Amino acid sequence: MTHAIAVAHPNIALAKYWGKREHGRNLPSVPSLSITLAGMTTTTRVELAAMDTLELNGVATVGRACERAVALLDLIWQEAGRERQHEGQGEGQGEGERPRLRIVSHNDFPTSAGLASSASAFAALAVAANAVLATGHSTERLSSLARRISASAGRSLYGGFVELPAGGDEAEPLFARPLAAVDHWPLRLVVAVTTETEKEVGSTEGMNATSRTSPLYAGWLAAAPDIFARIRAAVLARDLETVGLAVEESALTMHATALAAQPGILYWNGATVEVMHAVRRLRRQGLPAYFTIDAGPHVKVLTLASHAAAVTTEIAAIPGVLRTISAEPGEGARLIEASGTEPAEGARLIEPSGAEPGA
Ligand code: PMV
Repeated sequence: MTHAIAVAHPNIALAKYWGKREHGRNLPSVPSLSITLAGMTTTTRVELAAMDTLELNGVATVGRACERAVALLDLIWQEAGRERQHEGQGEGQGEGERPRLRIVSHNDFPTSAGLASSASAFAALAVAANAVLATGHSTERLSSLARRISASAGRSLYGGFVELPAGGDEAEPLFARPLAAVDHWPLRLVVAVTTETEKEVGSTEGMNATSRTSPLYAGWLAAAPDIFARIRAAVLARDLETVGLAVEESALTMHATALAAQPGILYWNGATVEVMHAVRRLRRQGLPAYFTIDAGPHVKVLTLASHAAAVTTEIAAIPGVLRTISAEPGEGARLIEASGTEPAEGARLIEPSGAEPGA
């Protein structure tokens, strides 16, 4: 195979991951639960080349983004070698030098929108590279490998509602698991975009500073598993009020730990706070709406499909909200083309990964 194209979507965590285990390998300290979001897509083409290169949204890219992409390619290759050795197989993938790859990736949503573009980027790259390198990893294995580069990327391998357990002391491989399928629950996420500039403190930097210096971090570690368990049970029961209140609790507790870091990490701007107040006002007026915020100033408002239009109208009118994006549960990362085989419109070379409710 000389080339492959994969697509993947970002995801939004209802139960947040914030903080890593100390001994490395990017193992989360707390369990998380997310919805993979349709309507925003990363498309990544990988092809054999003379050297590794990365082109992001039409721009040749070096530095950290490129290093992380190459690190994922190396992991995918080395893991294949380890598996062969483990199973006593002869020579093959994962041995010797890894073939070099040209990566061309494109997001159809603004990278600065705080919508976890790294999650969809590394999920799509894992699937496309696995095809071109012929490493034959399962979705589970790809989730574990992508998770090592960006924990949230491990969740975008799957569609619908997805959980990622906390890492144990020796928990490798740690991979995300599908919890409920795309059509389990017609939820919508209305994103209130409150700035067009990139965030100042990235998630890894923010969570590492929090775990090192925040006196509230121990409280977060104690609280997060219970918040996660409540969200998980209520997602399976389609109980929006319980999910929504716990989603706000997860986000606010996460941000409280970051605010108490030294120096304090403040991801919000004025509009972030205005949207939070507006969401609670809408609830008092009878609209089901709940907010969550990641490592940036945008607010994501969770509601039912039947109320999405009304919520969008209200949120879009708040001063400081530049625009809104509406997203719904979507499918996991998948291959759409390989070696020049153009599948028919809508056809897939591999089935997107999902699961039955409660599986
Ligand atoms: O996986 P990362 O490094 O992109 O960190 C994700 C952190 C949050 O978005 C704030 C929470 C989450 O679980 O997605």
